[in-house]
Amino acid sequence: MVSYAIIGASRGLGLEYVRQLARRQNTTVFAIVRNATRSTHLSVAISGLKNVHVFEGDVTDHPSLERVAKQVGKITGGTLDYMIHVAARTDPELLYQSLDDYTSMDELDKDCIATFKINTLGAIHAISAFLPLLRAGASKKIIVLGSPAGDFRLTRAGSIGDMSAYCISKAGNLIATMKYAVKLKSEGFCVVLLSPGLVDTTGTIGEHGDAAGKALLDKWVTENSRGSEPIPYIYPEESVNDQLKVVDNLKVSDNGRFLTLAGEDYVMP
Ligand SMILES: NC(=O)c1ccc[n+]([C@@H]2O[C@H](COP(=O)([O-])OP(=O)(O)OC[C@H]3O[C@@H](n4cnc5c(N)ncnc54)[C@H](OP(=O)(O)O)[C@@H]3O)[C@@H](O)[C@H]2O)c1
Repeated sequence: MVSYAIIGASRGLGLEYVRQLARRQNTTVFAIVRNATRSTHLSVAISGLKNVHVFEGDVTDHPSLERVAKQVGKITGGTLDYMIHVAARTDPELLYQSLDDYTSMDELDKDCIATFKINTLGAIHAISAFLPLLRAGASKKIIVLGSPAGDFRLTRAGSIGDMSAYCISKAGNLIATMKYAVKLKSEGFCVVLLSPGLVDTTGTIGEHGDAAGKALLDKWVTENSRGSEPIPYIYPEESVNDQLKVVDNLKVSDNGRFLTLAGEDYVMP
């Protein structure tokens, strides 16, 4: 039996990971969500499935993740093979803010700190909570969904002046993940960042999708295409299908890589 913990599984890419992994034979999936009752897309997706377990954990609340890890350990006998960290603060209403879009420094601080807590510290909290189980597992794979948005070179080359809090927090997320890759290398771990591509995940926001969020994505894509072909985006099914091909082929020697959907090293375009 191969076990996967998906951190941030209520919607978007985390939900799609659960959907695709649950179809596999001999697989147990732990779907970690902030609020199980509100995770309606997940409830529908896993209805009747015996190999998916839903637990509540918030990545800003380390004790809640430790409690989840205990529950997971009870089911697996104290091990976990793969941890896939997906959770992030990507609220479309705030996502596209530039540093000078905030009405006050207090508002800027509030958004940046809340985003940092989820997107940067959140991955650290999750890895730390599940590490004992992963250490006892046979696979020792940690996958963190990273974003090229956290690369200062892309900000410069693409003149991306908006998405401030998100990009800053994802830069921290890249480094935090690398710290674990370095620290855990001698134990035979494979810790990687995986870029999911540009994915429209607005379809699982709320009961019927977020049309306003989708419009903001389209506007961002148009503005950042700067007169050339619009930057193409994909949907969760395709992204996770490709991500899983990368995940399935991870080797210990991949530790510390920042991988694309094609399984290649992320290189600044
Ligand atoms: N979509 C893209 O184009 C893209 C591109 C590059 C990288 N990424 C990265 O890929 C990952 C997934 O993106 P996405 O588009 O699927 O995001 P999404 O649709 O906004 O989903 C975010 C998930 O994180 C969960 N979450 C938020 N705060 C949490 C917390 N404090 N504790 C636990 N879970 C929490 C959300 O749960 P709730 O339902 O409770 O809010 C939701 O399940 C993120 O790390 C993102 O940075 C995405």
